[in-house]
Amino acid sequence: MVELRSIILAAGKGTRMKSDVPKVLQLICGYPIIHYPLVLTKAVRSLKNYIVLGHKGEAVQKYLSANYKISMDFIEQKQQNGTAHAVKCVVPKLKSFRGDVLILCGDTPLLETSTIKELIRKHRISKASVTFLTAVVREPFGYGRIIRDGHGRAAAIREEKDAQGIEKNIAEINVGVYCFKAQDLIEGLKKIKVNKLKGEYYLTDIIENFYGSGWKIETVESDNVQEGLGVNTFVDLSVAEKVHRQKILRQHMLNGVKILDPQTTFIDHNVSFGKDCVIYPYTFIHEDVKIGNNCVIGPFARIRPATRLGDRVEVGNFTEISRTKVGDECFVKHFSFLGDAAIGKQVNVGAGTITANFDGKEKHKTRVGDGVFIGSDTVLIAPVTIGKKAKIGAGSVVTSRKKIPEHAVAMGVPAKVVERGKGK
Ligand code: UD1
Ligand code: CA
Repeated sequence: MVELRSIILAAGKGTRMKSDVPKVLQLICGYPIIHYPLVLTKAVRSLKNYIVLGHKGEAVQKYLSANYKISMDFIEQKQQNGTAHAVKCVVPKLKSFRGDVLILCGDTPLLETSTIKELIRKHRISKASVTFLTAVVREPFGYGRIIRDGHGRAAAIREEKDAQGIEKNIAEINVGVYCFKAQDLIEGLKKIKVNKLKGEYYLTDIIENFYGSGWKIETVESDNVQEGLGVNTFVDLSVAEKVHRQKILRQHMLNGVKILDPQTTFIDHNVSFGKDCVIYPYTFIHEDVKIGNNCVIGPFARIRPATRLGDRVEVGNFTEISRTKVGDECFVKHFSFLGDAAIGKQVNVGAGTITANFDGKEKHKTRVGDGVFIGSDTVLIAPVTIGKKAKIGAGSVVTSRKKIPEHAVAMGVPAKVVERGKGK
C-alpha cells in the first residue's frame, strides 16, 4: 500500500474577505472553514498532515491544536508568494518520502470524501504523476480554467488573470485538489517560474510543465457542481453555509426530527436530538447542543453551545439558553435567558425569567432544584441557588449568593423567604 500524506494550504491573506479574522477560521455551521479539508485527510487515511500557515498563522495553529486530535505538522510560509511557494515550504519534509501527497486548499469546505477517495484511487491505478480534481461550473469566474489538448488530455491550468479570449469561457475549472507522486511534485516545483502578472509562484503551472515533459496527468471531474467551491468572499461563505445547513437539517429530519420550516431553521454541526422533537421556525441551535426526547423548541428560540436539554422540555419564543443543563419536563416558554445554569427536573421557568450570570467581570452559576416554580419576570442574580420545590413570586429579584431553602416561598425585591417549607 502506498503511503499518503497531505498538505493543506492555509497561509493566504484572504484579502477578498475584508475581515480581520483569518479566512480559514471563519465559521460555517459552527466549524471553521479549515475543519472541512482537515477532517477529509483523516477520512482518506492520510498519515501525516502538513498545514501551511502564514498570515495570522499563530491564531490558526492555536485553534487547531486546541480542537483537533488529527496529526498536524505546522509549516510556516513567511511570505505569501503563491500556492507553489507554499507547497515548496513543505518540501524539506518530503525529501525521502516515496508515497503520494494530497494537496488541498484550506478554503474549500464542500468537498466530499467519496470524491477525494476516487481521486486517490484513479491516481494509483493510472500511475499518473499527478491527478487533480476539476468541476464544470456555471460561473467559472475567479477559478483556474482547464486547457485540454486535441485528445482531451489536460495540458495546462490557466488562472483567471492570465486567461485570454475564449479561455475565459471554459467552464471546467480547477478545484485546487491534487494527488501527486511525492518525488514528481518535488521535481516539478523546481521548474515553476514566477507569474509576471501577479508576482506569485502558481502551483497550477506544474500541470503545463508536466505536460511539456510528457509526464502522465489525470483528472477526476466532480459531478457535483458545488463541491469545488472555494471561499474567497462572504458571498461564497453564505453559499457554503447554506449547503451545509441543508445537509444538516435533512439528516435530522431523516432521523425523525420534525422541522416545520427548514428555510428559517438554523442548526449547526454537532447537535443531537432524541425521538419526536419538534422545531418551530426561526430557531437557531448552535454547535455542541444535546436535546432529549419529545422536546418542543421555538418559534424564535436560540440555543447556544454547551447546552443540554432533558426529555419533554419546552423552549418557547424569545428564549436564549447558553451553557446550561435543563432537566426533564421543564418549561421555559417565553422571553427568558438562561446562562451557566443547572436546572433540575419539572421546573417551570416563568415568562421573562432572567439569569443575571455576568457581573461585569466573571460568569457565575445558577442552580435550580427539581420541581421549582419561578414566577414571571424573576431575575436570578448568580451565583444563586434555589432549593427543590421552592416557589419564587412573580417580579422577584433573587440577589447574588442567596440560597432559597427547599420547599420555601420567596418573593420581592430583593427576594425574601416569606414561608418556610413544610417540616423545615
Ligand atoms: C486557487 C488556484 C485556482 C483554483 C482555486 C480553487 C492557484 C494559483 N490557483 O486560486 O486554479 O481554481 O484555487 O479554489 O493555485 N495560499 C497559501 N500561500 C500563498 C497563497 C495561497 O497558503 O502564498 C493558500 C490560501 O490560504 C488558500 C489556497 O492556498 O487556502 C488557495 O489560495 P487562493 O489565493 O484562495 O487561490 P485562488 O485564487 O482561489
Ligand atoms: Ca481560493
